[in-house]
Amino acid sequence: MFTQVELLPADPILGLIEAFNQDTNPSKIDLGVGVYRDALGNTPILKSVREAEALLLTRETTKKYIGSHGDPLFAKHLLPLVFGADSSVLEAKRATLTQAPGGTGALRLAADFLKRNSPNKTVWISNPTWPNHYAIFDSVGIQHKSYAYVDSETNRLDFPAMLTDLKQIPQGDVVLLHACCHNPTGFDLSLAQWQEVLAVLQERELLPLIDFAYQGFGEGLDKDAAAVRLLSEQLAEVMITSSCSKNFGLYRERIGAFIAVAKDATDMEKVRSQMASVARANYSNPPAHGSAIVATILASSDLDNLWRSEVDEMRNRINTLRQQFVAALAPYGLAEKFACVAEQRGMFSYSGLKPNEVAQLQKDFGIYMVKTGRMNIAGYNEQNLPYLCEAIASVCGKK
Ligand code: LMR
Repeated sequence: MFTQVELLPADPILGLIEAFNQDTNPSKIDLGVGVYRDALGNTPILKSVREAEALLLTRETTKKYIGSHGDPLFAKHLLPLVFGADSSVLEAKRATLTQAPGGTGALRLAADFLKRNSPNKTVWISNPTWPNHYAIFDSVGIQHKSYAYVDSETNRLDFPAMLTDLKQIPQGDVVLLHACCHNPTGFDLSLAQWQEVLAVLQERELLPLIDFAYQGFGEGLDKDAAAVRLLSEQLAEVMITSSCSKNFGLYRERIGAFIAVAKDATDMEKVRSQMASVARANYSNPPAHGSAIVATILASSDLDNLWRSEVDEMRNRINTLRQQFVAALAPYGLAEKFACVAEQRGMFSYSGLKPNEVAQLQKDFGIYMVKTGRMNIAGYNEQNLPYLCEAIASVCGKK
């Protein structure tokens, strides 16, 4: 049977890790997978995480199952982080949280839930998007289609085109939205634009599925939640997938959450029962270590303050790197072409580099990024920025 199995190409993002590791170029730079790196090129464990882990080592008394919804303390502390401490949604007990193995796991729960309960709905996804969105909905057999997001000529957000497309989505369908730090483009909507999106969602009775993987990496922990909070307060039903991979630096611990906002507590309980069943059929109980770390940090005001300052530090560093990138390209006459990099937010930049330029950067310079031209901004640092910009100038014919 295995002989007839099709050999698949490597994942467009994760496959770059392997290719990068095998490259012997001493100047190589990894701008592929979205992990934060510090000035030395390392992805350190956050201090708040280390302290929480030290506490857990002394406190943990058992390794028994934590239940399909995960750790209740994790839910208790993550919900206010997402919705705000004085949220009317939480007050009305309209939200339910099911812990998931990472943001990807949460999206898979959402996809399975949709397949079980509304198999004929189409999920509308921004073009472009994170490629795994397609893979997740394909895996469960949910149809997906695209709405416009970026003007490919100018490499800028095309909000009018987005709105036009959203207005044509059949009533009742699902719209996948990136709360902040749009992956892969880095182009986010303003609050005024979110208001316009909200009006379309209301008018056409569309169900939003909000991918919230980068809280804290755009403008700040609260500002980045503005769209999630607006839509949850104004709409009867919302689905949210939250990730602690980036903002807690817990990538390999696989910790995230599926959150549903229902019109009332009765509907919320129905959704909650479904999520337990979906989780049970996928992996039964989620892993416990990541949620214990997050709950320990958020429950302690000292650790919470430390963590918030670490998130600020990561975000500020990325935004500084964005400015430095554009400034370093100026001597090559490329500042204008790449000005968007300073305007985008989050870990990624849709650089506008073409697939052939990306291929040449990889082959000739050992610089790895996603074929679409998506760069992980946290992937370079002050030391290798001149090399990166020289290489970009070279493939753009400016050197
Ligand atoms: C990315 O887009 O690089 C990250 O979200 C990691 C992943 O799983 O693809």
